[in-house]
Amino acid sequence: GRPRDLAGRRVVVSAGGTREAIDPVRYIGNRSSGLQGYALARTAAARGAEVTLVAANVALPDPAGAAVVRVESAAELREAMLAAEGGADVVVMAAAVADFRPAERHEAKIKKTDGEPAAIHLAKNPDILAELGVRRKERGDGSPGVLVGFAAETHDVLANGQAKLARKGCDLLVVNQVGANLAFGTSDNAATILVAGGDPIEVPRGPKDDVADAVWDAVAPRLL
Ligand code: C5P
Repeated sequence: GRPRDLAGRRVVVSAGGTREAIDPVRYIGNRSSGLQGYALARTAAARGAEVTLVAANVALPDPAGAAVVRVESAAELREAMLAAEGGADVVVMAAAVADFRPAERHEAKIKKTDGEPAAIHLAKNPDILAELGVRRKERGDGSPGVLVGFAAETHDVLANGQAKLARKGCDLLVVNQVGANLAFGTSDNAATILVAGGDPIEVPRGPKDDVADAVWDAVAPRLL
């Protein structure tokens, strides 16, 4: 059985991948399945937490014991996270947020034309995790007590990951080993959990529930 070490704690997890509308029928998206974020929500609930799950375009049944807020775009995900994070004990950004969105959303479906295809101009999306780190600092009440980010790194994992951990102002950064049929859409994952002011934790390849439990094992002792 799992420890009940998150009993009475309020946990917010984002999962899935955002879709950025081009027109009413098309979007720019990514291949995130939401499986790892859902595993985090399910295991946190099983460890006693009160869980809010902000799900971006995930085709999975609601995990038992979590309140699910469904969103589509990065802008909606940001609003949902800002609405939920105040007073939370833990916030985990496991969602794949699009770095860019189409600068304008066409009201009508874009038509095929005989000439050149229309260009899609992009605008930068806000970095939600970095914003949560800034908000925590500015608020100064220490909440959320633990802020967790995710990252997919292909090279210089430790150096890039440590720099990202500092830049984003989070306490833990779960770095996925990308490639070799890991991560996207699979039920297995492998990761290194980078810890602010501590040694990295290697999580061997295994079910996403095991990776999720390893994250909560790292989070729990940091809760005051
Ligand atoms: O910078 P990078 O995209 O590698 O960082 C990944 C982490 O930052 C993830 O936790 C992701 O949820 C979060 N992120 C975010 N807003 C963005 C881009 C990434 O919160 N616009």
